Amino acid sequence: MSNKSMRAIVTGGSRGIGKAIVKELASRCSGILFSDIAFVDDDSNKTAEEIKKEIGNPDINIYAFKADVSKFEDAQATIDAAIEKLGGVDILVNNAGITRDNLLLRMGESEFDQVINVNLKSVFNHTKAVIKPMMAQRYGRIVNIASVVGLIGNAGQSNYAASKAGVIGFTKATAKELASRGITVNAVAPGFIETDMTAKLNEKQRESLLVNIPMKRLGSPEDVAKVVGFLCSNEADYVTGQVIAVDGGMVM
Ligand SMILES: NC(=O)c1ccc[n+]([C@@H]2O[C@H](COP(=O)([O-])OP(=O)(O)OC[C@H]3O[C@@H](n4cnc5c(N)ncnc54)[C@H](O)[C@@H]3O)[C@@H](O)[C@H]2O)c1
Repeated sequence: MSNKSMRAIVTGGSRGIGKAIVKELASRCSGILFSDIAFVDDDSNKTAEEIKKEIGNPDINIYAFKADVSKFEDAQATIDAAIEKLGGVDILVNNAGITRDNLLLRMGESEFDQVINVNLKSVFNHTKAVIKPMMAQRYGRIVNIASVVGLIGNAGQSNYAASKAGVIGFTKATAKELASRGITVNAVAPGFIETDMTAKLNEKQRESLLVNIPMKRLGSPEDVAKVVGFLCSNEADYVTGQVIAVDGGMVM
């Protein structure tokens, strides 16, 4: 991605890792559309303007779009909106995700279904909608945000681990299907990153986590975003079907 003409879609881009990815890609793209369910009424334009201000470039084309990633029709609407506003799409980052932690003994069916739908079905929804235009231009970069929990499991997160392991399997299968069409598909597996998702951890939980992190700190959203930026760049042209952990050495 050297000529700054790329157009990107990021799901769940209004905060946390997704927002850091929007900002990282802004320096490399001509336009970005990010979707999120969190917009109240239509404050999406306000959020897009705020991000432009934070980046310090009022001229970059950044659009926000209200959508529920777990809904098939919302995913198609997101891709259609990006193509209309940006003139096409070269990059898709499937980032939106949730946790509904519970021990299996206590986990309700809806906690399982919600996590699978938002974290895994969403990746199917958006990839399915985006591959036609990417195949037609014989170019595309798809990056799926998984988790180290999808590689090693975690007590109390059977739903989340299953969804992220599913994302990794989906990444590898689609990488094989789409490689000959000029489309790469990779996954980034963050460890523990400082966002709203991990803000719920108490001091004791944090301390016990740090024991298993050789770098002795939680990651930042920017740590993850930089690796996503690399996978979307021309430097990663010959990289597909990979899962890159960004976890301070936690899983190796
Ligand atoms: N924070 C971590 O430690 C960590 C670790 C590993 C993986 N991840 C993954 O990184 C991704 C981003 O996580 P984060 O920590 O930034 O979380 P976050 O909760 O801060 O942000 C998640 C974003 O997704 C959006 N979202 C949630 N459900 C949605 C839906 N149905 N439709 C559209 N948007 C929706 C939220 O509104 C929010 O903007 C997730 O896939 C998460 O599983 C996070």
